[in-house]
Amino acid sequence: MATPIILDCDPGHDDALAIMLAAAHPAVRLLAISTVAGNQTLDKTTANARRICDVASITGVPIVAGRAFPLRGRGIVAADVHGESGLDGPSLGPPVTPVTSTDGIGYLRDLLRAEPATVVATGPLTNIAALLLAAPDVAERIERIVFMGGSTGNGNVTPYAEFNVYADPEAADIVLHSGIPVAMCGLDVTHLALADEAVCERIAAIGSPLARVCVDLLGFFAGTYRDIWGFPAPPLHDPVAVALVAEPGVVETVRTRLDIELTGTFTRGATVVDRYARTGRPPNADVAVGLDVARFWDLVVTAVRTLST
Ligand code: RIB
Ligand code: CA
Repeated sequence: MATPIILDCDPGHDDALAIMLAAAHPAVRLLAISTVAGNQTLDKTTANARRICDVASITGVPIVAGRAFPLRGRGIVAADVHGESGLDGPSLGPPVTPVTSTDGIGYLRDLLRAEPATVVATGPLTNIAALLLAAPDVAERIERIVFMGGSTGNGNVTPYAEFNVYADPEAADIVLHSGIPVAMCGLDVTHLALADEAVCERIAAIGSPLARVCVDLLGFFAGTYRDIWGFPAPPLHDPVAVALVAEPGVVETVRTRLDIELTGTFTRGATVVDRYARTGRPPNADVAVGLDVARFWDLVVTAVRTLST
């Protein structure tokens, strides 16, 4: 029985592959794609979600636009990582797939009232927090929230804060205290998902226009990750969160205590993971600690092949 999911994202190169995996994997039923400001502004992340559905021939999946700004402050983008368009690399042209609703929060509220689902979030958690604040009743309709974000150690935007959580720490805190089961796929695990030359060759060998787009996306992503962090290959963060739902055995998690730092002078946005129960605070999240890298890439390559025409 396929798991119904809502994919909340900020495309974003890795979000693009997360959308493809969610659309293609037989164990996942993609109910809707909601977009949020993050890697780029909301208008750009929404246009990119549309473009990904165009190029991957994903039809019948509503695309709804959520929040343009975090719960507090004006927000940040990651143009240095994803480019001015948020999806630099391939030339994708203007989007064709329509936006089903610009009231993404209202759309998700009604969708969940009609059908319970799992939320997979691969951008800042603004939309999910806003949804829970606007319609607290839907909390019981959300089976689980699996998010890509945070880390058990260092960050990537500040020394201790990862981008998705740093962009809206209040939203992450609201999600974490919602009472909904939460799973976190943080940098320590997603950094194991390096799209190296062998992975790119497997995707290129599919030989489809979609495969070429993916190779071009990964090529751009490789350049920014090399230039900024000196990575030998780009980590494909977001599909890890989808993989956790699609094939749970691919991602190893531990039940532990997770808190969000909201006020630290140097650490705002940090995900504080009490891995060894030193605080005595009760466990409240499943935190990813391992990845079956070979199986993960099999999932991603198979998704691109499945969507290729
Ligand atoms: O820190 C990596 C995360 O931030 C990924 O989801 C990437 O797409 C950006 O949203
Ligand atoms: Ca993302």
